[in-house]
Amino acid sequence: MNSTLDIIYSRKSVRAYEDKPIPQNMKDAIIQAALRAPTAGNMMLYSIIDITDQNTKNTLAKTCDNQPFIAKAPLVLLFFADYQRWYDYFKICDVEKLCFSKNETMRRPQEGDLMLACCDALIAAQNAVIAAESFGIGSCYIGDIMENYEIHKELFNLPEYVFPISMVCFGYPTEQQKNRTQPERFNKEHIVFENKYKSLSKENFKDMYKGLENSSPKNLKYIDGAANLGQHMYLKKFSSEFSKEMSRSARKAMESWKNKNGDGSF
Ligand SMILES: Cc1cc2nc3c(=O)[nH]c(=O)nc-3n(C[C@H](O)[C@H](O)[C@H](O)COP(=O)(O)O)c2cc1C
Repeated sequence: MNSTLDIIYSRKSVRAYEDKPIPQNMKDAIIQAALRAPTAGNMMLYSIIDITDQNTKNTLAKTCDNQPFIAKAPLVLLFFADYQRWYDYFKICDVEKLCFSKNETMRRPQEGDLMLACCDALIAAQNAVIAAESFGIGSCYIGDIMENYEIHKELFNLPEYVFPISMVCFGYPTEQQKNRTQPERFNKEHIVFENKYKSLSKENFKDMYKGLENSSPKNLKYIDGAANLGQHMYLKKFSSEFSKEMSRSARKAMESWKNKNGDGSF
């Protein structure tokens, strides 16, 4: 249809990279694409850290649920939801004094602010993914960066109102990755609704998973004890150790945010 849609429709995650660096001008363009993403109130409620240190990549490969390919990615970008920068700026601009004069206490970042900052960070990340794809550079998100909050906070020197929401590994795909079949998606009617939300019936689910059950299970072996795809996914993803750790870690971050606020909010 057009080259942008070609890129979006043909993209797939890439988890094995050629041992070939990403040229600086391409890296700059990928980061510039992230920075041009839409951002709530034009506030850029995110920060990006470019991991150039191999030891840090090695650590991340372990702390992000033991995924060795992270250490081999030529470009690793971390995306943080960041309200600290604005909060610091508010203070520098004497907002506390302003609030005092109005007999108010200065508001601190809360739940909605964090969610908005997460939106900003992820939208920026996806711009980077598409820009990379346009150069033939593959990528893979790493959600596990939300795990081990305490370790990552120390590793990256994070202040309270900064939360690592995502990480993206980039690199040229190996031949095997280029040839890998693009994963299926659920059909549109189960995901996109008109005007009101639609809860799915047992029949709808049967139909929804038909595609997946037909496409992947040739090599999909259910986890021990699972009798169907739902049970398999529950055990593999939803109740897995990494999901539990992710929730523990996110809770820890929220708690330290809450303690700093000292007013019961987050
Ligand atoms: C928020 C998020 C977190 C993800 N985390 C991981 C991860 O930790 N490790 C990994 O190998 N892939 C990760 N992925 C990639 C997904 O597994 C991948 O997008 C999905 O299987 C669909 O495949 P596709 O991107 O090739 O279409 C993540 C993707 C997203 C959007």
